[in-house]
Amino acid sequence: MGVEVRVEGLTKSFGGHPVWADVSLTLPVGEISVLLGPSGTGKSVFLKTLVGLLKPDRGSIWIGDRDLPRLSERDLYEVRRLFGVLFQDGALFGSMNIYDNVAFPLREHTRKPESQVRAIVQQKLEMVGLLGAEDKLPGQISGGMRKRAGLARALVLDPEIILFDEPDSGLDPVRTAYLNQLIIDLNQQTEATFLIVTHDINTARTVPDNIGLLYHAHLAMFGPREMLLSSEEPVVRQFLNAQRIGPIGMAEEKDADELEAEAASGVELPPLPPIPSQLQPSNGGPRRAERPPGQWCRDNGVTPPPGSFEMNTPVAGRHAADTHEYPPGTLYQSEVPS
Ligand SMILES: Nc1ncnc2c1ncn2[C@@H]1O[C@H](COP(=O)(O)OP(=O)(O)O)[C@@H](O)[C@H]1O
Ligand SMILES: [Mg+2]
Repeated sequence: MGVEVRVEGLTKSFGGHPVWADVSLTLPVGEISVLLGPSGTGKSVFLKTLVGLLKPDRGSIWIGDRDLPRLSERDLYEVRRLFGVLFQDGALFGSMNIYDNVAFPLREHTRKPESQVRAIVQQKLEMVGLLGAEDKLPGQISGGMRKRAGLARALVLDPEIILFDEPDSGLDPVRTAYLNQLIIDLNQQTEATFLIVTHDINTARTVPDNIGLLYHAHLAMFGPREMLLSSEEPVVRQFLNAQRIGPIGMAEEKDADELEAEAASGVELPPLPPIPSQLQPSNGGPRRAERPPGQWCRDNGVTPPPGSFEMNTPVAGRHAADTHEYPPGTLYQSEVPS
């Protein structure tokens, strides 16, 4: 069972330059949250701050009654065991085979006998569809497999909170669809609290329960998926719908002149696209944290864009339903070397 992470007024700067300031959000127990933002807005810095690898200038990160930035090294070491982190490139040791990479945290943090280590490693490799790749070195497998090996390693200590740094970067759309399905299935099985950093809009639109957007050194918005996908707030609307028109320019923010010219030219924003259905676990069962489609909109008197929550809503050129049509057990088999 996951735990809640409550971030309050978090601020981080490097050499006097703020990366982001006054970030407050709550990752609800067992839910999947996505953090979006243009490159360089400090998404990776945020994850590293959450696990205590970087110290914030100000603010709190509450896990139960413990405030991470205020813990002693010793207590922080304890709390870190609650976290599983999948770093951007998998962060595997290049000279160790996949088995030893995945076993590493167990050998480092526990005194389990090798027979138990083996059982756990096999179980996690199976969860991510990597059984059979134990003897390979990271350099001998594809980028997608490295990410899944990194994920298996993040899972071996049975974390309550799992952080993913761009799990989909560098993957083709099909592999991204598989990985997203894997994330949903893992959430169902582990009931851990998930935070996924991504800039894949399709992932953000279909996978999470909650979405946050970092922009211009602030958290522009954080809340339920339906709230952001129906939002008219210009930055949120532009980013989540991948539009050119809006406050975000090619290089960070558009200046006042550009925005004025845009307004004067009378260009109209395209209508909000339908809110797609959320990706479902592949075994057909529910996730504990799942909410019925449209509930947030109904509860808040918001009319979702026409066509929302229909199974075959087109999303960025493909179908939201596509990704869970693969029968379970077929995950990645074609990718595992014999
Ligand atoms: N250890 C560090 N020291 C100094 N600056 C850093 C460090 N880590 C990241 N930064 C800076 O913080 C900003 C945000 O980086 P990052 O979190 O990697 O962005 P994102 O993951 O959103 O692309 C960048 O300007 C980066 O150069
Ligand atoms: Mg990053």
